[in-house]
Amino acid sequence: MKSNVYSAFLCGLALLTFGCATAPEQTTEAPAEAPAPETVQEQAAPSSKASVTSKYFAKNKLGQTVTQYTLKGAGGVVMDVINYGGKVVRLYLPDKNGEAKDCTLGFNDVAGYENVDHYFGSIIGRYGNRIAEGLFVLDGVTYRQPTNNEPGGIPCCLHGGLEGWDAKIWDAEPFQNGDTVGVVFKVTSPDGDQGFPGKVEAQVTYTLTPDNVWRIEYQAVPDKATPINLTQHIYFNFHGEAEGTILDHDLTLFADKMTPVDAGLIPTGEITPVAGTPFDFTTPHKIGERVDTKGDKQLEYGNGYDHNFVLTNPSKDGQPVKAAALYEEKSGRYLEIWTTEPGIQFYCGNFLTSEMIGKQGKPYQFRGGLALETQHYPDSPNQPNFPSTIVRPGETYKSVTEYHFGVK
Ligand code: GAL
Repeated sequence: MKSNVYSAFLCGLALLTFGCATAPEQTTEAPAEAPAPETVQEQAAPSSKASVTSKYFAKNKLGQTVTQYTLKGAGGVVMDVINYGGKVVRLYLPDKNGEAKDCTLGFNDVAGYENVDHYFGSIIGRYGNRIAEGLFVLDGVTYRQPTNNEPGGIPCCLHGGLEGWDAKIWDAEPFQNGDTVGVVFKVTSPDGDQGFPGKVEAQVTYTLTPDNVWRIEYQAVPDKATPINLTQHIYFNFHGEAEGTILDHDLTLFADKMTPVDAGLIPTGEITPVAGTPFDFTTPHKIGERVDTKGDKQLEYGNGYDHNFVLTNPSKDGQPVKAAALYEEKSGRYLEIWTTEPGIQFYCGNFLTSEMIGKQGKPYQFRGGLALETQHYPDSPNQPNFPSTIVRPGETYKSVTEYHFGVK
């Protein structure tokens, strides 16, 4: 690992600055625990100031205009985000030589998201991941959601239904506070939206700090009891968009248990230890090392990794804890994910195919990107032994996830 006292000092200084300079209204403080300076080397000292700019992106199928916001971070990370689903369309990450490359999957127009894949880079709501049969009972009432997915031929409701929050045009308000930039997204999900009870007023704030942290703060207020489980479905490939697979990326998951699934990718309700299985990422492993282990039923159901991992030491005080680390040796790109959520879905792009053509006009590959979605466990409304996802009137759903980008 490249590390020196100067970079550690800069990192510490940047974190201090972050702590003082960014406090979007609805949150309290910066995380109590910051990543140890020796594990994340920040990019070179910023030579340019941060900025946030907006421009026309494209029209959606209803003819509505979608706007793009470019968040230029003072530390070198640049993100293009749109108010259609709050999608991250491009994510430029410097490598260890300071050369930035777009490291996320996506499309140059809305049609790609509408016709090829809705979830690339998107906010997911009202319920991330699957609800078995698109059905749950809450306070004695049965609620049905559209089934829009059927792994193993078994129908379920995926990522909030046919028209989830990924398909909504959000109100967007860009902001700049010194070297910190961001966008506040707001949307209203009406009572009965995709079969879910209650109107929900949601707000998702993206903040890009000078020390290359992308912080997401989710907040949602329902007027009736309803399940809420929000996440972000960004894909990473540290070689660059449409440049091979993620099988050589080293992954660490700070999770000693997982929730096994059935053939429909619905949790069985068990919470099992990962020790001694191909799901043990408590120390770094290349994703490709064990992904095709013969005879592993869980890998067979997922056609690879597509599972919820249970964090060993989840957040207890509303401050994010370290959930995952991702590293690609050649570029040196490194990421830590910190979250207040108890779980993380590791999906290694098993549904990606070469029929999906990306932003450079190049086909994506099977396992050409991976998603690490911080979340409550899938199908929680039907699983009494999982942490509850029900939010009641008078309560506010709050969740924070941070992506700490750097190089090693
Ligand atoms: C993931 C899910 C996968 C797949 C993907 C979207 O969150 O775990 O099974 O549905 O979203 O393509």
